[in-house]
Amino acid sequence: MNFAITIAGSDSSSGAGIQEDLKTCTALGVYCFTVITSVTAQNTFQVTAIHDIPADIVEKQIDAIMADFSVKYGKTGMLSNEDIVRSVSKKISEYDLKIVVDPVIVSKSGAILLREDAVSALKRYLIPVAFFVTPNKEEAERITGIEIKGQKDMEEAARIIHEMGARYVVVKGGHLMGEVVVDVYYDGNIFRKFKFPRINTKNTHGAGCTLSSAIASYLARYDNPIKSFALARKFMQKTIEKSLEIGHGHGPLNPMYRIWKF
Ligand SMILES: Nc1ncnc2c1ncn2[C@@H]1O[C@H](COP(=O)(O)OP(=O)(O)OP(=O)(O)O)[C@@H](O)[C@H]1O
Ligand SMILES: [Mg+2]
Repeated sequence: MNFAITIAGSDSSSGAGIQEDLKTCTALGVYCFTVITSVTAQNTFQVTAIHDIPADIVEKQIDAIMADFSVKYGKTGMLSNEDIVRSVSKKISEYDLKIVVDPVIVSKSGAILLREDAVSALKRYLIPVAFFVTPNKEEAERITGIEIKGQKDMEEAARIIHEMGARYVVVKGGHLMGEVVVDVYYDGNIFRKFKFPRINTKNTHGAGCTLSSAIASYLARYDNPIKSFALARKFMQKTIEKSLEIGHGHGPLNPMYRIWKF
């Protein structure tokens, strides 16, 4: 059995966060352990409440998993506050975990999922111990301080984040304009561009969660960074193509597309 760990928030609408990670890993044949950092009350169009789990309880969840299973790969999503960012960073080092950090800052519906004062902790403690970091346009801008208008800026942002200590960086292009969506992958040496046709849909709730847990799942299976990203990105395209028109806002993706045949 291949294992992965997700350290993220709970999304009551199950389109993002822990619930989406669990679906993605399961669909990709990986047993996923879940460490909940925060409980959110949300649906496809808004977040109405956020209740953070105390950092020591986040640590205890990680300890409980690591005391019982041999886990190497995983991902982080919503970490909400500085205490949790610091605790999770400490545990990643302690257990030598190879983690895909999805540096979630703002939700699709506009809610703040990482407090302002925790962004510097993300840069200072988490990025230096990250295996992958997968910022979207706005997150890459916040982390690096540069404005991203095109692929050259995405490359520059990836270079800066790599210099902060991340082993691999993917600056995601979902929020840039154009018929083609370009993700920029950087391994500290060469840049690779992954291009896919833009799918015209509003139903992309949980896109970042799906991508990061798919990378972690493929890493658990193949132990190969570039192959894992390429497979995860391909899977991603399918989950958007098959996304679900449910709810009144941004509907969820469909990582279950191979199982649910409509
Ligand atoms: N409309 C689209 N068509 C095709 N691919 C897309 C589209 N939107 C996003 N993607 C891809 O999905 C992945 C997630 O990208 P995105 O930039 O949307 O992440 P995100 O903003 O973190 O998502 P979230 O809103 O869930 O936080 C990337 O690989 C990106 O290229
Ligand atoms: Mg995101």
